[in-house]
Amino acid sequence: MHKINLSDDIYYIGVNDRRTSLFENYWPLPYGVSYNSYLIDDEKVCLIDTVDRKFTDEFFEKIDHIIGNKPIDYVIINHVEPDHSGSLKAIRDKYPSVTLVGNKKTFPMIENFYGITEQTLIIEDGDTLDLGKHKLIFQTIPMVHWPESMVTYDSTTKILFSNDAFGSFGTLDGGIFDDEINLAFYEEETMRYFTNIVGKYCPHTQRALTKLEGIDIEQIAPSHGMIWRSHIPWIMDKYKKWSSYTTDNGVVIIFGSMYGNTEKMADTIARQLAVRGIKNIRVYDASKTHISNIISDIFKYKGVIIGSCAYNNEMFPSVESVVREIEHKGIKDHFLGIFGSYSWNGGGVKNLEKFAEAIKWNLVNQPVEEKGSMKQDKYTESLALANAMADKLIEFFD
Ligand code: FEO
Repeated sequence: MHKINLSDDIYYIGVNDRRTSLFENYWPLPYGVSYNSYLIDDEKVCLIDTVDRKFTDEFFEKIDHIIGNKPIDYVIINHVEPDHSGSLKAIRDKYPSVTLVGNKKTFPMIENFYGITEQTLIIEDGDTLDLGKHKLIFQTIPMVHWPESMVTYDSTTKILFSNDAFGSFGTLDGGIFDDEINLAFYEEETMRYFTNIVGKYCPHTQRALTKLEGIDIEQIAPSHGMIWRSHIPWIMDKYKKWSSYTTDNGVVIIFGSMYGNTEKMADTIARQLAVRGIKNIRVYDASKTHISNIISDIFKYKGVIIGSCAYNNEMFPSVESVVREIEHKGIKDHFLGIFGSYSWNGGGVKNLEKFAEAIKWNLVNQPVEEKGSMKQDKYTESLALANAMADKLIEFFD
C-alpha cells in the first residue's frame, strides 16, 4: 500500500466513494467523491477528521499501515457533518484513550449525532495544540459549511487543513495533489461543490477568506478532492470570485415545457443572443438537467432567463424547484428575463414575476407570455427580450 505524504510525518489517508449516487442524498456524483482524512505521526498521534462510516474498514487499514499498534491521541473535528465524523464512534472503540478536539459548537452536535460527551477538548480561535514537532492552531469559519466549521493550521509545515472549504467533488483517481491532476478536468467539479454545498453562505465564505489572509500557507488539505500546493492562488482566486457573485459574460436559459411551446421560445431567445454575439449560452430543460448543474452555471454567468408553461395555475413544478433553490441560496446580482406560455389560465409567467420581485435581480425587459404556440407578435417580443439581455451584458462587460 502506498504511503501518501504531505510532509515526512503527515499522511493522506482518505478514501474514494464511487458507489454513492447522491451526495447528501441530493447532489449527483457522476465522478464520485473523496472523503479526505490526514494522520500526523508525531510524539502525539493526531487524526484530522475521519471518513464516511461506510469506509471505516478501509480507513483503519490505512491508519494501521502507518502507525501499527500505536494509539491515536487526538482527533480534530473540523466539521461534524457525517461525511467527516462518521467513523468517530469506531475510532473511539479502537482507541479508547483518544481525545476529541473541537470548538464550543462542535460538541453539542457530536452528542446529538453520536451520544458522545466525554474525553473532549474545547478550543477557541487562535488556540494551539502541541503535538511535539507540530503545533496546530485553530480558526473557526462559521457556516463554511455548518456553524461549527473550523480549519486547523500546522505552523510547522504551513499546511492548512480546511475541511469543506476548497474541496471538490470527484474521486482522486491516482493524483492526490493539484500538480498531479489536470486542473481543467476538476474545475467544474470544484465549482459545483462550492456552489451546491457552500453557495448559500457566500458572505460567510468572504469572512473566512479575510480570516485566512496573512497566514503563510504552503498546502491546503481539504476534506474532499485534491490537495492544493502548486495552485493555491488559483483556488483562492476562484473562491473570492464565486463567493462575491462575480460572473462571466453569458446566459443560462432554464425552461419547463410540456408540449414544446415554451421550449421554442427558449430556442428563439438563445438564437438571438448568439446573433448578438453572446458566446456562452446554456439552455436547460428543468425537467431533465439536475438543479446541481443549473445552479453551478447560474453562479458562472451574469444572465439568467427563465421560462415556464402554466401548470394548474402555477409554475411548472421542475422550474419551481429551480426558482426555490435560487431563492434558498440567496444568489445575488444577475440580469433576469422571464417568458412562458399561458395555456388555459396562466400561472407560469405570473408566478415568475413574483419570483422576480422577491429575488430583486435586474429585470431586463417585460415578460413575454404566449397563449399556446408561438405567433409572430410573441416571436418579435422574444427577440426583444434577447436583445435587452444582450444590451445589458454588452454594456456591463464592455
Ligand atoms: Fe463535507 Fe459539510 O461536509
